[in-house]
Amino acid sequence: MSAIYWFSGTGNSLYAAKFLAGALGDMPLVPVAAGAAPGEVGGAGEKIGFVFPSYYGNLPRSVRAFVDQLVIKQGTYLFAVVTMGAFGQGAIAALETALAAKGLRLHYGRGIRMPANYIMMYNPASTEKSAGKLTTVNRKLSARAREIAAGAQRIKKINFTAQTLYKNIEALDRAFCADAACTSCGLCARLCPVGNIRLQGGKPNWQGRCEHCAACISWCPAKAIQYGNQTQKRRRYHNPAIQAEELARAKAAQ
Ligand SMILES: Cc1cc2nc3c(=O)[nH]c(=O)nc-3n(C[C@H](O)[C@H](O)[C@H](O)COP(=O)(O)O)c2cc1C
Ligand code: SF4
Ligand code: SF4
Repeated sequence: MSAIYWFSGTGNSLYAAKFLAGALGDMPLVPVAAGAAPGEVGGAGEKIGFVFPSYYGNLPRSVRAFVDQLVIKQGTYLFAVVTMGAFGQGAIAALETALAAKGLRLHYGRGIRMPANYIMMYNPASTEKSAGKLTTVNRKLSARAREIAAGAQRIKKINFTAQTLYKNIEALDRAFCADAACTSCGLCARLCPVGNIRLQGGKPNWQGRCEHCAACISWCPAKAIQYGNQTQKRRRYHNPAIQAEELARAKAAQ
């Protein structure tokens, strides 16, 4: 069976995965947040794709854990498209290594620049301005899709990850809090891809196993989530063509 496995916090990677699935045809979209597919996947003549954001030039940890669990048949064409703000191709090298440990070869791996979303670290891209840039993104995704459809063997990677910075990130969710604007709608808890938010007394409570995907803070309709004292004045970015409910549904499939 062919499939595209995707992971996304603010929607860029889901956008890319949907585009590729549409262009390639017959490629079911499977959220990594739903857990590893049972049984073996792939096979001769089949394609398996991975679409996810670069985190510190590395794989999101839940993508790494997912890949480690997945059983892929030999002979499958394996491809990856990594969304990134600037330089994320270390994630392709990391995926290549994870697959090699399972005796598998990544055939195609390329990054694609999309709006940078890391609000906990800097003022992210503007959602409104990003809408006007989707044409360029679409052109690049079309080119990637054509290469993948043709079974291209092409890897564009860099051998650099900032692994030490990312290693202990899960505990850094202590800096998240919901301010008085919180309406107790529960969206943050429904869309956190790793189930790291519990509502207590109607307010979000972070559980210490954060992926730092920025979904909760970016999608909160009341802009009530803050990260320390750094985010009060920052924009909230999400991909302009993706709805929060698409991510929440993927999470609900868990
Ligand atoms: C924790 C974290 C780490 C990131 N690290 C990188 C990075 O190393 N290189 C880069 O170019 N972009 C980096 N970014 C930006 C995202 O990779 C980029 O905005 C991506 O398209 C977001 O995808 P998503 O909307 O599917 O979550 C990072 C973002 C986050 C939240
Ligand atoms: S999404 Fe925002 S408003 Fe809704 S429960 Fe979470 S913090 Fe509160
Ligand atoms: S708690 Fe927020 S930043 Fe952390 S993984 Fe969940 S949605 Fe992403």
